[in-house]
Amino acid sequence: MKLGVLSDIHCGYRPLRACLDALLERGAEGFLLLGDYVSDLPHPERTMEMLRSLMREYPCYAVKGNREASMLQQRDGECPHWRYDSGSGSLLHSAENLSEESLCWFRSLPATRLVKFPGLPPLRLCHGSPDALRRLIRREDGSAERELEKLDADWLIGGHNHEQTVFSHKGKTYLNPGTVRMRDRAQCALLTGEDGRWTAELMTVDYDVKSYLRAVIGSGFLDLAPVFSRGVLYEMITGKDIIDEMVSRAFRYQREKGSDLTPEETEECWQRAGRELDILEVEKWIS
Ligand SMILES: [Fe+2]
Repeated sequence: MKLGVLSDIHCGYRPLRACLDALLERGAEGFLLLGDYVSDLPHPERTMEMLRSLMREYPCYAVKGNREASMLQQRDGECPHWRYDSGSGSLLHSAENLSEESLCWFRSLPATRLVKFPGLPPLRLCHGSPDALRRLIRREDGSAERELEKLDADWLIGGHNHEQTVFSHKGKTYLNPGTVRMRDRAQCALLTGEDGRWTAELMTVDYDVKSYLRAVIGSGFLDLAPVFSRGVLYEMITGKDIIDEMVSRAFRYQREKGSDLTPEETEECWQRAGRELDILEVEKWIS
């Protein structure tokens, strides 16, 4: 039994295609889909159509990510503050361009699920952690080990923090396939079950990032979330994390300016963070 493992696609339909091709070439017979299928890039339905096609052809076991939860909250009227700016523009773009079919599928997804195959140890799937979509679990701070110690299965397979890793602790194993979209090379994992045990291989897959990003720029997406979208491009060109730092700076400057900021004042905080991190002209790097 060979399973492809994919997480944090974030609308990256081209790196998704590259990962699927690589996994199918390696003999994947089914797929584990760990959430955050949309937002951060344009054309959410291209990603969703690709996933629907995959689900028609192969057994797929999917869970919900925090971005799917956000899409449903917006659809339920809980996000009236979203607008086209660096804070929420990429989320709003996905929300306004998703089909009813995709939203229905999001609504049907569990936050966690136990997947069993005959003769093989059970797999616990989640996005962040088994009891919280948005929880970041990491090996460095011991949180991943703590999750393994209370796990009801042999394997915990999750995403969300975009950190590709596999390690064992007290007889249980944590696998994070990394992010399909957020790097200069697409990331995924291949899980092979044989002789009563699973083994995981972390994979990185090359694809034409610059050609893809030229298409992103050409779509006008950068105007919808000016600084945030450039942070996404920066990560995809350099492979370096920047978004957490960018977001925390932008929020800090907003707090320092006070409450009841105008949209222009809020965006200026993002612009300041973008200037400091030298990402505002990132599209010039793509030629
Ligand atoms: Fe996430």
